[in-house]
Amino acid sequence: MPRTALITGITGQDGSHLAEHLLGLGYEVHGTVRRVALEQPMHRMGRIAHLLPRLKLHAASLESYPSLFRILGAHDFDEIYHLAAQSFVAESFEDGFSTMNANVNGTHYLLAAMRELKSRARFYFAGSSEMFGKVRETPQRESTPFHPRSPYGISKVSGFFLTMNHREAYGMYCCGGILFNHEGPRRGHEFVTRKITGAAARIKLGLAGELRLGNLDARRDWGHAADYVRAMHLMLQQDEPDDYVVATGETHSVREFCELAFQEVNLDYRDWLKTDERYLRPAEVDLLVGDASKARERLGWTPRVSFAGLVREMVRADLEELSPKLDLGALAARVGTSASRIAEAACAR
Ligand code: GDD
Repeated sequence: MPRTALITGITGQDGSHLAEHLLGLGYEVHGTVRRVALEQPMHRMGRIAHLLPRLKLHAASLESYPSLFRILGAHDFDEIYHLAAQSFVAESFEDGFSTMNANVNGTHYLLAAMRELKSRARFYFAGSSEMFGKVRETPQRESTPFHPRSPYGISKVSGFFLTMNHREAYGMYCCGGILFNHEGPRRGHEFVTRKITGAAARIKLGLAGELRLGNLDARRDWGHAADYVRAMHLMLQQDEPDDYVVATGETHSVREFCELAFQEVNLDYRDWLKTDERYLRPAEVDLLVGDASKARERLGWTPRVSFAGLVREMVRADLEELSPKLDLGALAARVGTSASRIAEAACAR
């Protein structure tokens, strides 16, 4: 019998990488998706389109306890990865209430349903380095006190403590991952890394003339999402449940990210970048850098993709994605090479 896993948020960046990883390990992979995603699969399921025949999807909403209860009651999952959330920090300032509702209650509903059903599943909660917020020490590790700076950060602290409380109060196998920023070509366009790599590619291809950003001095510990989902899985394979920081241990500013991304297409970011107050946040998290020693020692986890490798991969993927707009696909077919080779040649110019 294959092991079974449920992923909430399977249509997101991390969900799609985790589904791929678990399928590769021979799991039967289930996912919850919102009804609206089932109704608009082309629009909402782009990241998992290539996996759809191998997945078992269930309609559910983090706002509905019965919908979650029903799925958990009908299946005896070995592992549950709770990734679904309103994950955009800036949006949480606009609508803190819906962020709190989805992120806090959604987590609580899942844990409560597991408890009620006496589920034997191992549970992973997607915590965040945003919980450290106004950081009390550098680098941040599992013992660093939390000081969240946004409704999003507050919601993740609540979810994290709900997870810990179910472990301590009811003996459930619950782990909290404290993941630092993780990116890749599947990243949503609202996040700064994808906004930058998308703009660098569009500007290079003559499809845009500027990039507008907020705080260029914020520093983040950026890793690759495909690396980080391996850590999620490893957490649930240990004898005892625990919480882990997952990070690269390197920090870079938004400005450095811009510099590297534009270098990748042989442009100088200073010629194209404009700062725009609209993208400043009411309270900022200035510096994040994680100490993942515990994950390294206990899980044997290390990141494989470097910062430079991450930026390069994202810029190239954006160039390739945009290339059909320039009919590079047709051109590639005519000259018998791939669009990625043509995009690569564009980078080299
Ligand atoms: N999004 C965005 N857009 N961010 C900008 C911009 C802009 O135009 N200009 C500057 N920034 C700065 C933000 O102020 C922030 O300091 C930094 O870039 C990173 O912003 P995001 O990419 O939106 O990510 P985040 O760090 O706020 O949150 C991400 O990482 C968390 C882990 O630390 C998200 O993935 C969260 O869900 C995740 O928990």
